[in-house]
Amino acid sequence: MTTGHILAIESSCDETAAAVLEFGGGFNVRSNIIASQIELHKIYGGVVPEIASRKHIESVTKVAQQALIEAGVGFDKIDAVAVTYAPGLVGALLVGVSYAKSLAFSLKKPLIPVHHIEAHICANFISSPDLKPPFVCLVASGGHCTVALVESYTDYHVMATTRDDAPGEAFDKIARVLGLGYPGGPAIQQAAENGRASAFSFPQVQFNDSLDFSFSGVKTSVINMVHNFTQKDNPVPVEDIAASFQQAVCEVLADRLEACAKKANVKNIALAGGVASNTLLRKLCKERAERQGLGFYCPPPVLCTDNAVMIAARAYFDFIKGKFGGLDLNAIANLDIAKM
Ligand code: KG4
Ligand code: ZN
Repeated sequence: MTTGHILAIESSCDETAAAVLEFGGGFNVRSNIIASQIELHKIYGGVVPEIASRKHIESVTKVAQQALIEAGVGFDKIDAVAVTYAPGLVGALLVGVSYAKSLAFSLKKPLIPVHHIEAHICANFISSPDLKPPFVCLVASGGHCTVALVESYTDYHVMATTRDDAPGEAFDKIARVLGLGYPGGPAIQQAAENGRASAFSFPQVQFNDSLDFSFSGVKTSVINMVHNFTQKDNPVPVEDIAASFQQAVCEVLADRLEACAKKANVKNIALAGGVASNTLLRKLCKERAERQGLGFYCPPPVLCTDNAVMIAARAYFDFIKGKFGGLDLNAIANLDIAKM
């Protein structure tokens, strides 16, 4: 049995994260350090790329050191350095990639480049060691919306993707319009608790020829409704709008995941990404799974939002295959996982 430790670095958006994952007879999360930049970006209502890159530079060394301290291991115990290289904000990605390359070079250890969306899916292998491919996973986050068929631990194929916005992006934008702050997902979820999901009916886009998503319509529809209330000097029913919007988005996500599972004829479905923390989405997907006799998997919220444990988990499967990156590794802003 191969045993060892992977040190992973994540810096694709607004979290600088590092983790040590021990492997051999299963995974053991030795540390999971996340330095969130949320407070820094809050005043702008969203992530400012240049500010994100600068903050990653300040934090990356400290966060990696903290991950080793908490794991109780020194650099000498690290067998590979993993890093997110795509997709994400290019300046932010570059910070992690440059740090990981220098570290791998100086430690004389393999460098493992990791695709961020595949890593989100692999968070499920940490929380549910019994989950085995093939299965279908919805990755819904601030930057992504993909349903992937996971054929093996190293083969991922896109079955459906968004034609415009990501659901997390829609949550963040609507929260801003409703004056609920950033990040929008948790704020909308909280406001929705006191609202009626049936108060308003927002568009749920479905294409005739594909299982793809579109969230620009629901976003525009909610914004127009809010403007309508304010222009007439009527109070905005924030909680009802939040609940109805959340319902529309989560129903589409759950429906499409169910359709993809049917198409791929798999026995299990899973969730991943920041929006997978949403309790309504989890509930709806669990109900769909039960209805279809499928197994349902979802990581705990701390492994749904960006973290480096999931980067290490994805890297492990390349590590055991001896698939490594070179020191010419570059960051890539847009890179899909393979299409079906
Ligand atoms: O995975 P993540 O940390 O970063 C990306 O890779 O994009 O996802 C962040 C996104 C944000 O848009 C945030 O609003 C959303 O996940 N999010 C949620 C919830 N918690 C976080 N969306 C809906 N409901 C939640 N409870
Ligand atoms: Zn992410």
